[in-house]
Amino acid sequence: TEPKPESPGNDWSFWPTYDSASLGFRNYWYPLMWAEQIGDKPVPVTLLGEKIMLIRDGDDIRALHDRCPHRGVPLSLGRRQYEGTISCPYHGWTYKLDSGKMCAALTDGPSSPINNKISVRTYPVEQRLGLVWVYVGDGEAPPVERDIPAELIENDFAVGGRWDIRQGNWRFAAENGFDEGHAKYLHNTALWRLFKVMPAWNETRIVEEDSWLIRVQDAVHWEADFPGLGKWTNKRWYKRMPLPDAPGKAEDINPVIKSLDIPGFVSIRLPGLLRVAYPHFIHYEWYVPVDEDNVRYVQLMVRFEKGLKAAAFKAKYLGAIRWLFHGQFTAQDAWMVDVMDAPPEKLYRPDLSLTAWRRHIEKVAPVAQQDPTVRVIK
Ligand code: FES
Repeated sequence: TEPKPESPGNDWSFWPTYDSASLGFRNYWYPLMWAEQIGDKPVPVTLLGEKIMLIRDGDDIRALHDRCPHRGVPLSLGRRQYEGTISCPYHGWTYKLDSGKMCAALTDGPSSPINNKISVRTYPVEQRLGLVWVYVGDGEAPPVERDIPAELIENDFAVGGRWDIRQGNWRFAAENGFDEGHAKYLHNTALWRLFKVMPAWNETRIVEEDSWLIRVQDAVHWEADFPGLGKWTNKRWYKRMPLPDAPGKAEDINPVIKSLDIPGFVSIRLPGLLRVAYPHFIHYEWYVPVDEDNVRYVQLMVRFEKGLKAAAFKAKYLGAIRWLFHGQFTAQDAWMVDVMDAPPEKLYRPDLSLTAWRRHIEKVAPVAQQDPTVRVIK
């Protein structure tokens, strides 16, 4: 065989695993949407580039590869003709929802020799936190709890959230979430900042704790003088208002959040989950790869309370947080994720959060998803 010609481009990288993971990582559980959104009608989704059909089957939700093996028609267009099955709309091949086994080729009679010989791939599914979770991986799936922060399993809480599909690769979205500098500048105009004051810049370092990378603030600078330019401050016009998070003000911190003892405000972990811990609630956002150009953005805001306090938080979420934070604030992030164009890139000191995240991935070495649409015909 001919030796391969040398690549003229960039064939060397500091982070080869990360660079190859434009479709995300296999062997993780991913949240997709609210469980109550899945009914008897099939819902087509794309996860890590794989076409999947979600459908309710009693209390369970099933996930099948959304492709009839006969001629490749999406099963999500099919009919729910017999209990516990889906029939392909084209020639009526009928599959069991729980196993993916083709139990009848309706157009070839009851004793068709192909019956029970064909299967479509099924995916493990769980329902937690009101969300549907699907596992894309090889071998037996680990418990879904492995991929859910422990504090969300061990405590009572009130939760509000939203999910949507945004443009841009999931890695840009994850990097944006953990990116230190953008919070100080891009979000300078966010309405959320009416309630949350932000520093002008921080001195930070990244620490690794359990499975999390955490951005620790060693020094917080509320303003800075730039010779020839003037003062830069994030306090702006409302700086004299009695802000709940104002610097120097003694915090009363929710006991669950206090017990977590998180050394920094923002943390990230595989396969792409950001945690932003405020004194009274925690914001989580998952960057779930759809395909190379789209990311499913799942946001939860959690308050660890029961009873009246939980109900009050739910009202506050629906009346304000949903629009200010899960709306306008993170829409600013979505804007940058959509328009940015890297590499090439030139990094500066605050980008140590990005490089720590990439290094972490090289160390853990998860399995990058390969293009599932490439099929070998044997
Ligand atoms: Fe599905 Fe023919 S394509 S039954």
